[in-house]
Amino acid sequence: MANHTITVTVNGGKEYLDVPSNMTLLRMLREKLALTGTKNGCEAGECGACTVLVDGEPVNSCMMLAVEADGCEVTTVEGLADQEKTLGVSENPKGLSTLQEAFVEQNAVQCGFCTPGMLISAHALLERNPHPADDEVREALVGNLCRCTGYLRIVQAAQTAAEETRFFPKNLVSNTTDPVGKSVPRIDIHEKVTGAAVFADDMQFGPGLYYGRLVRSPHAHALIKRIDASKALELPGVKAVVTGRDVNARIGLYLIDRPVFAIDRVRVVGEAVAGVVATSEEIAEQATRLVEVEYEELPAVFDPVEAAQPDAPLLHPDMGEYEVANFIFPQPGTNISEHFKLRKGNPESAWPKCAAIVEGTFRLPQIQHVPIEPHVAVALWEHSTMKGSGAATSGSVTLWTCSQSPFAQRDLISQSLGIPHGDLRVVSPYIGGGFGGKAGVSMEVYAVVLARAVKGHPVKVRMTREEEFITTTARQTLVANTKIGCDAEGNLLAMETEYYFGGGAYNDYGVNIARAAGYSCTGPYDIPNVKGDSYCVYTNLPIGSAMRGFGMPEIHWGIEQIMDQLAEKIGMGPAEFRRRNCVRTGDTILTGMEMPAVDLPACIDKVTEAIGWDRRSAVPSAPHKKRGQGIAIMWKAPAMPPNPGSSAIVRFNEDATVNVEIGAQDLGQGAFTVIAQMAAQALGVPYEWVRVSVPVDTRYSPYEWQTVASRITWTTGNAVKAAAEDARRQILEIVAEHWGEDIQDLDIKNGKVISYKSELEQPLENMVIYGLPNENFEGWKGGPIVGRGKFMPTYVTNLDSETGQGTRAVVHYTVGAQAVDLEVDTETGQIDVLKIASAYDVGKAINPDLVLTQIEGGAVHGMSSAFEALKFDEQGQPLNPSLVDYRIATSVDAPREIQGDIVETPLEDGPWGARGVGEHVMVQTAPAIANAIHDALGIRFNDLPLSAEKIFLALEEMEL
Ligand code: FES
Ligand code: FES
Repeated sequence: MANHTITVTVNGGKEYLDVPSNMTLLRMLREKLALTGTKNGCEAGECGACTVLVDGEPVNSCMMLAVEADGCEVTTVEGLADQEKTLGVSENPKGLSTLQEAFVEQNAVQCGFCTPGMLISAHALLERNPHPADDEVREALVGNLCRCTGYLRIVQAAQTAAEETRFFPKNLVSNTTDPVGKSVPRIDIHEKVTGAAVFADDMQFGPGLYYGRLVRSPHAHALIKRIDASKALELPGVKAVVTGRDVNARIGLYLIDRPVFAIDRVRVVGEAVAGVVATSEEIAEQATRLVEVEYEELPAVFDPVEAAQPDAPLLHPDMGEYEVANFIFPQPGTNISEHFKLRKGNPESAWPKCAAIVEGTFRLPQIQHVPIEPHVAVALWEHSTMKGSGAATSGSVTLWTCSQSPFAQRDLISQSLGIPHGDLRVVSPYIGGGFGGKAGVSMEVYAVVLARAVKGHPVKVRMTREEEFITTTARQTLVANTKIGCDAEGNLLAMETEYYFGGGAYNDYGVNIARAAGYSCTGPYDIPNVKGDSYCVYTNLPIGSAMRGFGMPEIHWGIEQIMDQLAEKIGMGPAEFRRRNCVRTGDTILTGMEMPAVDLPACIDKVTEAIGWDRRSAVPSAPHKKRGQGIAIMWKAPAMPPNPGSSAIVRFNEDATVNVEIGAQDLGQGAFTVIAQMAAQALGVPYEWVRVSVPVDTRYSPYEWQTVASRITWTTGNAVKAAAEDARRQILEIVAEHWGEDIQDLDIKNGKVISYKSELEQPLENMVIYGLPNENFEGWKGGPIVGRGKFMPTYVTNLDSETGQGTRAVVHYTVGAQAVDLEVDTETGQIDVLKIASAYDVGKAINPDLVLTQIEGGAVHGMSSAFEALKFDEQGQPLNPSLVDYRIATSVDAPREIQGDIVETPLEDGPWGARGVGEHVMVQTAPAIANAIHDALGIRFNDLPLSAEKIFLALEEMEL
């Protein structure tokens, strides 16, 4: 490849560079200049994460060759503040541009992966249109995808920056004492708006870095007859080819069913059958096409109900040999990997008493998480074997990756490959969105096994956007057959349901999703007679796995539509029907457990008030449009094994600033911020004194099970609170002894120990490291203060395998309600969601504004999910694995308004009463939209997605 010398001005500095003719501007910025603020989300011009200014115009740098930038001026996020100075703006003491400051002010950042591109596009807009209207901002940002925020705050930030007189050094809240319950700024926001936040793909590994690419199956189901890698190995630059013969191991969490590389058969298009290591990504990719694999095709099955039949093609003949958790019940000899049974009361005897019965079959397709940051993993296997490791093939191994669960990854990979846990180190920097897709192990193990083949060299494996869609994981399909009945007064009497989750080729996490759907199968309703069967079934589709909501969005889709139909049948309003039947504190719920304290009626009241439920007067915006409102409620428990632990360490520095060490991750949800707030509150120091150590590193961070199930505020929060209280106790003991006072009379406030009795004061500075001396400066007491804390919920009990009954099925439930106001264009079938009102009982909002950001982002995620679907042809070939063909909500799709509300019924074992709310916020958006569409058109849609075409055809049929 010919090289060219170019001259380009980047962020005001002249650069003279030698670049290959095929190198993109994006790669030049990231690889030649280490300007990693510009992100790679797709390398296909579809996501906008790579947006930079070239001669003042926003461009997707992944679509422009570096040679085309010869002689140009390029501005990246790192140069945004300086760019403003050249426009005559005085220097901001925080080093931020007006726009960056506005993003901070509006809390317009979550994971931060889209943020640099958003900032550049918004900056370009403000340069040409200093006072844009809402619609103009949305249009300008339509090419910049964000999966986290819901866009509204980004639009507001752009408008706020426009309103300001071209510089507004605002005083953000500072020196925040007693921060729990206050909307303090995100702890990570400065790094994220400047491009300084380091994500896995941004880490630099030097010239010894090799690249891995994977050879993938073209078939949905086939036997592997032969693999010949000889031609690939002859290609210059290829260092190794690894196949299932080299790695005869399975990996998994609940059901260990997935071979690292396919060994004897493939079960889904895109399954990895071999991996190639080479000196460049291009050579590795080229080599994958030289690996010859001979297949013998087998019949495939894609529908979970068909797959559950006895005569279906059998996908895992050896299922009976798989290791499985003791609460999962696979059925060897079938494709059923889990069957959870729930039996309560006697539905058969209740049906005759029902005044109204509604039943239906509801189908949901696979959808994808679509984090804007694709999966990346880099592994390095050292040459040296650690003494005493006992593993002949082992050296010390490091895996750098964007992981929601670094400790679980360490555990699963260690077990699978026989690496002692102490020899495998997993490092996870910032994550560009996860939504469950970066939990457990998906592609990360490939980096490890490929690196083992080239010890001493780090090997990077990075998913393309196409691979991200079909080869990482997806939300499972569901076919739900559900029947519910109520009496004439609207009291629910009985429910029978069958949930068939299509778990895809490997069902590891999926079996626990089916289980969670089983023990929560009624949704948030008190129903005395229930028969529920929840199955997870193998199909020849992408691996189904955890996704925001963990089975709850899927089951609520049908339940919440049936509730509307029952209400209509007996002449009751949908909101009133839900108030009457929703679960309340102390109810004996379907598993026999007593419902912990929550206030779901308060959530319903808040959203009906916010949406104007009882005073509807709004008319459609055009004669060919119809307007409707819908409501839906939800519940969700953290779905976990009974022993997921969290731990934390709180360390003081000389100046009394504090480092909090945790193993939990911040995926954008704000975990690090609330952890810092809790530590500060418990210690009695200002919030600004607290740092949360990044990256999470299994060698140095204390143990955390996984950042999943919306559990971090609760579990890690409890561990941090305990660690801070431990440190606080140590401090008070030292000072009490020093002053000769009773510890009960002392407190720590604003970084000082105070005595309510003697009114003495002792600043924490220095004493938290050096201790305190006696009067003669001898006989020092104390020493470096380090607090330790842990938390594990020990009270969850097993459930009876035939009835699903037990004392305590889950730790707790989070509940909430949403109401939607929308318009349907009857000429096109297009839906325009105008407003979403959303309220959740979070126990205690540690940071109310962060809760609202979760609600807003989740509502748009939930809205988007109603229109998304992974599509496959009859052979299981993916039809839409790109961000063009698989559309997620853009800035123009986001509702005009989202009103979030918070209810606070303290959780008994929550820190300050708090419980998590990250996943819950998208659970019931899709059914609320379906109910609103029915309100507008009188048409019910049982199957997702709600495509405009489907709605248009239904309208034609109805002649509306
Ligand atoms: S990385 Fe360039 S548009 Fe996605
Ligand atoms: S904050 Fe936009 S993608 Fe995460």
